[in-house]
Amino acid sequence: MQIPRSIYFDYNATTPLDPAVREAMLPFLSEAWGNPSSIHQVGRRARARLDEARDRAAVFLGAKPSEITFTSGGTEANNLAIFGAARLLKNKGKHLITSAIEHPSVLHCFDYLETHEGFSVTRLPVSRAGRVSAEHLKKAIRPDTVLVSVMAANNEIGTLQPVGELGAICRERGIIFHTDAVQWFGKEPFDHIHQFNADLVSICAHKFHGPKGAGLLYIKSPLHPDPILFGGGHENERRAGTESLPPILGLVEAMEKFTKPPVFQAARLKPLSAKLIAAIETIKGCEMASPKEGVLANTVAFVVPAADGLSLMAGLDMEGICASSGSACSAGSLEPSHVIMAIHGGISANSLVRFSLGRDTTEAEVDWVCSILPEVIRRAQPHQ
Ligand SMILES: Cc1ncc(COP(=O)(O)O)c(C=O)c1O
Repeated sequence: MQIPRSIYFDYNATTPLDPAVREAMLPFLSEAWGNPSSIHQVGRRARARLDEARDRAAVFLGAKPSEITFTSGGTEANNLAIFGAARLLKNKGKHLITSAIEHPSVLHCFDYLETHEGFSVTRLPVSRAGRVSAEHLKKAIRPDTVLVSVMAANNEIGTLQPVGELGAICRERGIIFHTDAVQWFGKEPFDHIHQFNADLVSICAHKFHGPKGAGLLYIKSPLHPDPILFGGGHENERRAGTESLPPILGLVEAMEKFTKPPVFQAARLKPLSAKLIAAIETIKGCEMASPKEGVLANTVAFVVPAADGLSLMAGLDMEGICASSGSACSAGSLEPSHVIMAIHGGISANSLVRFSLGRDTTEAEVDWVCSILPEVIRRAQPHQ
């Protein structure tokens, strides 16, 4: 078997910038360099291009241009949605609901609001598959609930949440619903933004071959969350700071090219993931963390007993395999995966391994990983 030199199985962490997206960004690093807020001609030219980008994003999503707020990425979109909506509505009620397995850029906002701003937060439990149930949500809702945030797809284990259903429950009750769709876009079939039944939707470009440092928050009108960045009146008074055209154009270009249909082709990725799963299931003690159904086709996560994440990652890396242990965004940290802790009720989860496949993943790479995996795992289990 020919051994590939470097195998990138970490597409949920980030994806490479697509060459065509890069090309589309280049003019905005040279000709259209003006400040969109300047009233002279150089500024007006930049403003026209920014307005165009917003119009394109709105048409693509099935939204109004005024409902699009460009941000620096998924983290900022989530922070703006949660802090912005909670603070806006604090006089109406101070109860918030989220799930136990959200990305840290959601969880830590709720932790902060609870610790420092007097909100009360319910963190919904999840099933063995990592799924939130409509029944749990209904039971958790109180008369003073003002905001619910549940992610569309989990970054660590790939579980898809029934966000349309959860959103409808919130809408019936006049509660604002936010979904972090950062891992969802580019992987699941997208039709229009209303399919989430959400008032707030977070999107991030680098998860579908766009640039890093670019995201957007869809804000259903007439909602106007409190800003989290103060300064000028940019982005309809929602996000102060001179807009950076290259990442914004890169985001819009990538979204148009790679989310409809999804660049992560389920039909191609499913059989590759199935091969990995079959190989993992033959390794003694390994347990799948990703559910069998209702899961992103590219994500294969599993737990290895008596081995820690760092040894596993180092062992895989020595073989040229780039994977992730726990939350990709805190890579390098040995924190147990909060997702596995929530599912398994607090058992130490140092040994999560996540493979996330993508556009350039080949069958040869999958075969190679399947062949080397038992030995890498054995080496990371000194006491077995
Ligand atoms: C589900 C989810 N939300 C939010 C983010 C944050 O995105 P960024 O780090 O680009 O701001 C990530 C990043 O991995 C993610 O997976």
